[in-house]
Amino acid sequence: MSIIERDLGTPAPDRRERTPAPATVELTIDGQPVKVAEGTSIMRAAAVCGVDIPKLCATDRLDPFGSCRLCLVEVEGRKGTPASCTTPVAPGMNVTTQSPRLARLRKGVMELYISDHPLDCLTCAANGDCELQDMAGAVGLREVRYGFDGDNHLGLEKDTSNPYFTFDSSKCIVCSRCVRACEEVQGTFALTIEGRGFGSRVAAGMNGNFFDSPCVSCGACVQVCPTATLTENTVIELGQPRRTVLTTCAYCGVGCSFKAEMQGDTVVRMVPYKDGGANEGHSCVKGRFAWGYASHADRQLQPMVRDTIDDEWRVVSWEEAIAHAAARLKDVQARHGQNSIGGITSSRCTNEEVFVVQKMVRTAFGNNNVDTCARVCHSPTGFGLSQAFGTSAGTQDFKSVEHADVVLLIGANPTDAHPVFASRLKGRLREGAQLIVADPRRIELVNTPHVRAAHHLQLRPGTNVAVINALAHVIVTEGLVNEAFVRDRCDPAEFAAWAEFVSREENSPEVMEAHTGVPATEVRAAARLYATGGNAAIYYGLGVTEHSQGSTMVMGMANLAMATGNLGRDGVGVNPLRGQNNVQGSCDMGSFPHELSGYRHVSDDTVRGMFEQMWGHSIQPVPGLRIPNMLDAALDGRGEVGGFKGIFIQGEDIAQSDPNTVHVTEALKAMEVVIVQDLFLNETAKYAHVFLPGTSFLEKDGTFTNAERRINRVRPVMAPRSGKHEWEAVCELSAALGAPFSYQHESMIMDEIAALTPTFAGVSFARLDAEGSLQWPCNEANPHGTPIMHVGTFVRGLGRFTITPYVATDERSSRRYPLLLTTGRILSQYNVGAQTRRTDNLRWHGEDVLEIHPADAQARGIHTGDEVTLASRVGVTTMRAEVSDRMAPGVVYTTFHHPVSGANVVTTENSDWATNCPEYKVTAVEVSPGRSASTVEIDHPEHRLGALVRMANQIARQMAADPTADAVAATATHLGKFWEHEMRADLAAAIRGGTVTVDDVVVQAVERLAVTA
Ligand code: SF4
Ligand code: SF4
Ligand code: SF4
Ligand code: FES
Repeated sequence: MSIIERDLGTPAPDRRERTPAPATVELTIDGQPVKVAEGTSIMRAAAVCGVDIPKLCATDRLDPFGSCRLCLVEVEGRKGTPASCTTPVAPGMNVTTQSPRLARLRKGVMELYISDHPLDCLTCAANGDCELQDMAGAVGLREVRYGFDGDNHLGLEKDTSNPYFTFDSSKCIVCSRCVRACEEVQGTFALTIEGRGFGSRVAAGMNGNFFDSPCVSCGACVQVCPTATLTENTVIELGQPRRTVLTTCAYCGVGCSFKAEMQGDTVVRMVPYKDGGANEGHSCVKGRFAWGYASHADRQLQPMVRDTIDDEWRVVSWEEAIAHAAARLKDVQARHGQNSIGGITSSRCTNEEVFVVQKMVRTAFGNNNVDTCARVCHSPTGFGLSQAFGTSAGTQDFKSVEHADVVLLIGANPTDAHPVFASRLKGRLREGAQLIVADPRRIELVNTPHVRAAHHLQLRPGTNVAVINALAHVIVTEGLVNEAFVRDRCDPAEFAAWAEFVSREENSPEVMEAHTGVPATEVRAAARLYATGGNAAIYYGLGVTEHSQGSTMVMGMANLAMATGNLGRDGVGVNPLRGQNNVQGSCDMGSFPHELSGYRHVSDDTVRGMFEQMWGHSIQPVPGLRIPNMLDAALDGRGEVGGFKGIFIQGEDIAQSDPNTVHVTEALKAMEVVIVQDLFLNETAKYAHVFLPGTSFLEKDGTFTNAERRINRVRPVMAPRSGKHEWEAVCELSAALGAPFSYQHESMIMDEIAALTPTFAGVSFARLDAEGSLQWPCNEANPHGTPIMHVGTFVRGLGRFTITPYVATDERSSRRYPLLLTTGRILSQYNVGAQTRRTDNLRWHGEDVLEIHPADAQARGIHTGDEVTLASRVGVTTMRAEVSDRMAPGVVYTTFHHPVSGANVVTTENSDWATNCPEYKVTAVEVSPGRSASTVEIDHPEHRLGALVRMANQIARQMAADPTADAVAATATHLGKFWEHEMRADLAAAIRGGTVTVDDVVVQAVERLAVTA
């Protein structure tokens, strides 16, 4: 079945409001009485009562524009024929949408369009999904009186520079929908209409093609284009989809809803779903286009075992793999004790898949040695927010930001890491909300088209707490505290102690400036703005949590929000931007060694008793090991009898994602059984003895919970390619270990979660299917979920202020390591890149680079493109440099998406005092030109493939910029030499291995080379 979303032509005038305004205007359309909200367009009012007025430039995703003149109507008592999309309703209005005059006018408009349009409908990719075609039919166009001679646009060239969509200018009707989508929905302003009158054309940036323009490939323009001008390449290749499955993106914590549009079990395209609570019809390049990894040739689809990590893998049946894994785990426990094994759950897996893994550890393994990859990202969020407010989750939904007047963005880079939220935020900022950015790097939002931060607090890495205390100092000492809120909602004694603490001179912006590097005047101005600028919302990311004081900082932000009364309503709050798609869910599901689902401590007899009764197994009353403790115990032999010797790792590449890579791999090597359940043979699998193939999100049935506590359905579009769902494999392993679970379907796992977890009590697949999504807590008290938390009172009762002294991290720059490294993400890649590196997203980011300030670069003789060695006290790696003033002098920055650069080779074992979340964001390093002999080589073919892609892109750009014979010859020689010496074997391997994405780039570069030559 296809899901056709009805387009009402113009947006609802009250689309911001949670409860739409009561109908206030009554009018008549084609004789029918209609009641709609004030400000509604005639077009939308007509659509509401079932009358579709012909339209081309209008869509309910965009503000009305009024350019095509197809939607004309007659209004009794008014002269002329107004455009229904731009004319608001008025009380008593009598509208006629169909008349001989209107039909004549509309036909005339359509004739003009069609006279300059290629008449290739039968072979056009959009045939059957083209609004121009529909409108020609709707107005009854049978002939074009003007003929097809004369000037036209039919010979215009196609732009195929973007790997995911094609721009065929010859089919463009210049309706501006794409331009407006790029502005209004995405906020990138990459497109313009250049020229005038007949010469008007859509243009991408200054460079004339999409790839080289500021376009970020979000797909919004493609989605709104009413013709085949902007079309997904997969649609061009495969044709129109036949059925639709509603599901959820498996990348970041925004949790966008998508329509997977299919032909059989082949995905034709992913289209963001208008009714998706998190994204409301928008998407980014990852969710929209980068799903090809699911069918990549690298997918390992059969179980495999081996005795030692030096042996070759042996493909075996599922039965043998499960039996082998169970026997080895039992053997380890028999020799080293019950607590010698454990498991890690994955924030990329569904709630149901995570729940069964932690259940297997607590029952079949018989211990609490379970942890989740959230340990290395947002564990301080859970701890800090729970301390302050009583709930381990963000306070708002994303929509709330549309009511914010001031946004304090700390340690987050939403345009790269949470792009769909960033678009929502940019929209609000363009409306006039003020932005304060606290980040060591000048992220895009500091200064981007139509958005400029009021303050950029460019702090030194590791000094977040100093900044938050300085902000609080100003608020308290300048009398900006919301006394009424604090009196009514917070613990008075704790507030008094905190106020006394932050008022101390040592916390003043002037004193803290020496630590943070942020001018005191900037801090003072930012504090005043946050406290007095209206609704103030804090959004933050891993730049807050991945520090030795990550938990302190989370509590510091909570203090600030409570002191200013910025909680418990729209437009305010403390909001973590979660990294992975299901970080919130994996934490909710009881993945921590000390907590059962719903964040209840394992030492609570009543809670534990409930689980024991349901599961028929006793649960240890003491917490188990966290990931770093498991790794340490594997190396130093600590543990009940003989250390930590066996691990089950669900969908997580700890050898690449966790800090101090050498330490991680040594620990893995020291274990006797490592079981990896994943899509690909990742870095961690190099140390595994059992490999159980996982499923991509396109094969999963279950739920993800996003950063706003929204539980979204993930629905399968195809059967598991490995022949087994991940949860089934886990249940079989658990049964083989003596703890069978009896689920026939994922919905039964959710039913068990709901029965055991008060915040999920009202959640079921049936409810989710009926309501679309639910934000927990969802229970008897909140049957439809809770978009905004802590309204009226905090979950814990009185809000808790915590004293947050700034303690400088042990990781300091020194003579040997004089620079501070901090890390982050880039839009086109995702985490360790396992998925995005297997898509055409490689074209935007083929390798990690090191951003270094010009002053630091000059002092070391480093230029953009140079290979440099990055060394810390724990490791050495090599990458290319990019000289950039986005960082302050003394600070360098890189991403961590590519195994070859292995940024985590250099990150240290330092971690948050409360949760052990690694201090990824601060590492003292030195950068030197060239490759060091001591570079830790991570042997990976993608190293060279990444370089190949980068080179191919560079050559393509050179060709476009300077197609003269000399330049062509020079680049050809360069390319030839490059392949000759380094790349030929890899290129051949890439072709053999089916890494089409890389080939395409190269082939395109070569083609361009040939054409230009
Ligand atoms: S590309 Fe599509 S959306 Fe953009 S102006 Fe042309 S027809 Fe309209
Ligand atoms: S894909 Fe997105 S960013 Fe690129 S031009 Fe279209 S709307 Fe703008
Ligand atoms: S913003 Fe996040 S959830 Fe949404 S499409 Fe992009 S990666 Fe997927
Ligand atoms: S749809 Fe109203 S003018 Fe184009």
